Amino acid sequence: MTDAPESVPPTGLRKGLTSYGDAGFSLFLRRAFIKAMGYSDDALDRPIIGITNTYSDFNPCHGNVPDLIAACKRGVMLAGGLPMEFPTISIHESFAHPTSMFLRNLMAIDTEEMIRAQPMDAVVLIGGCDKTIPAQLMGAASANIPAIVLPTGPMLVGHYKGEVLGACTDCRRMWAQFRAGDRTEAEMDEVSGRLAPTKGTCMVMGTASTVACMTEALGMCLPGAGTVPATHADRIRAAEASGAAAIRLARDGMTPSRIMTPAAFTNALTVLQAIGGSTNGLIHFTAVAGRLGIPIDLDAFDALGLKVPVLVDLKPSGQHYMEHFHWAGGMPRLLAELGELIDTSQLSVAGGTLADIVAGAEYVPGQDVIRGRDAPIHSGGGLAVLRGNLVPGGALLKRSAATAALMVHEGRAVVFDGIEDMTDRIDDEALDVAADDVLILRNAGPKGAPGMPEAGYIPIPRKLARAGVKDMVRISDARMSGTAFGTIVLHATPEAAIGGPLALVRNGDRIRLDATARTLDVLVSDSELAVRAAAWVAPPEPPGAERGYLRLFLDQVTQADEGVDFTFLRPPVKL
Ligand code: FES
Repeated sequence: MTDAPESVPPTGLRKGLTSYGDAGFSLFLRRAFIKAMGYSDDALDRPIIGITNTYSDFNPCHGNVPDLIAACKRGVMLAGGLPMEFPTISIHESFAHPTSMFLRNLMAIDTEEMIRAQPMDAVVLIGGCDKTIPAQLMGAASANIPAIVLPTGPMLVGHYKGEVLGACTDCRRMWAQFRAGDRTEAEMDEVSGRLAPTKGTCMVMGTASTVACMTEALGMCLPGAGTVPATHADRIRAAEASGAAAIRLARDGMTPSRIMTPAAFTNALTVLQAIGGSTNGLIHFTAVAGRLGIPIDLDAFDALGLKVPVLVDLKPSGQHYMEHFHWAGGMPRLLAELGELIDTSQLSVAGGTLADIVAGAEYVPGQDVIRGRDAPIHSGGGLAVLRGNLVPGGALLKRSAATAALMVHEGRAVVFDGIEDMTDRIDDEALDVAADDVLILRNAGPKGAPGMPEAGYIPIPRKLARAGVKDMVRISDARMSGTAFGTIVLHATPEAAIGGPLALVRNGDRIRLDATARTLDVLVSDSELAVRAAAWVAPPEPPGAERGYLRLFLDQVTQADEGVDFTFLRPPVKL
């Protein structure tokens, strides 16, 4: 029988009819086509839960997605709904040229429009690798239909000759040892099979783990869903439970904007500090909040860092890995330890509030992964915001992964004009560089690279690495992988490619970093900087910039302090 269009708000198959100028015909046609898949009328009359399929042969971090989808569908059906999986873009860090960040906004557009275009009463967003959950949250925030995130979960750890290994902190550590001549090519070949031993996301507190933990604190995934290992049975059960939860969210009209409130973002940023998380967490959640018109104030974030200690002992800031964090009690335990620093009145997709989640936190005797506030890893938060004449719009320093002796440092600038220039010259034996110099990489920001690649982890010049230098102050307008470590200043804003002060620095200028005072300056007079600014010429645009997504990106991308989102994707400013 053909359903007639109704005057009540449409649900299920009746949502968002294709426009043929006759709503009854549109629904008739839709039903006729979908019956080709063998659905019964009973199935088609149920609430519809969309499930994003981000499986890709190019994305091992999402290798378990087919299993998660199967379990999620089971959860939806057990709760009385009809699951409908659909594909969206999938992005893996190592398989995205020029960089995954270039594609995050494209995935956000894809996710938003597919959620909006297709009839679904709620959506389960299955993501994991660094940019995917941020893109999904951005899209879901803009589409604003009930949504729940299901992370793919972290990999298990690897082992090599008695050492415990984790992607990708140990990838970088071992590569640095190889560059310094301390490891052979044969060893590196062997170790490449041990660093990522299972499907799932990087198992250190890199960007993927950071985003998953922040998503749990934001209230957008079920408790435990941020940390259960990708390959464990509990991960499958979390998928089933997420499917069932989506039915409840649809029934209650629990839209993302009801969960992602300003206070919920403060909770997520508090957790970012407490886990010693990736600097990328700030950029991504600034972008997500921006979709809801919620500004993230950098100075307020820095102030948060002064009162929130780092409590989680994970690499790269500490010792352990995600599976250890999970078995130590995971996010519910961390939220409990953070006490009044968390606003537990905030809602969760689990139903109820964070207070309910804290009440159910597991206490694991003897664990040393999640510390109490009386015995923190670092007393003053993981991330610090710097300001000064070199970074008037701000820059970030991951204090928890930096060298204490370099927190206050003055040195001579050694400048690289772009990633290619750095690659060409960094290992040149004739490069004029010493251990107490400050390495600067510019034209690697949102527009400059383009896409703000994770190039901020400037390698120690080979001749210094051979001499035993392990860390130097490094500054760039790029980002850095959350798995990296060192005294590295990132996200210099405004970036060099639009004429930010980083563009004006010359080799030999004195640079002063004072992480305690939160300052970063080039010790050059204002008048001299003004002369240099007047003579500055913008770098040429990259090849292919005349058309396509690259043109859109260059025209629309915002700076790091606005989340590197596109201007036209943010809500209009209310006057
Ligand atoms: Fe996917 Fe690290 S490469 S999470």
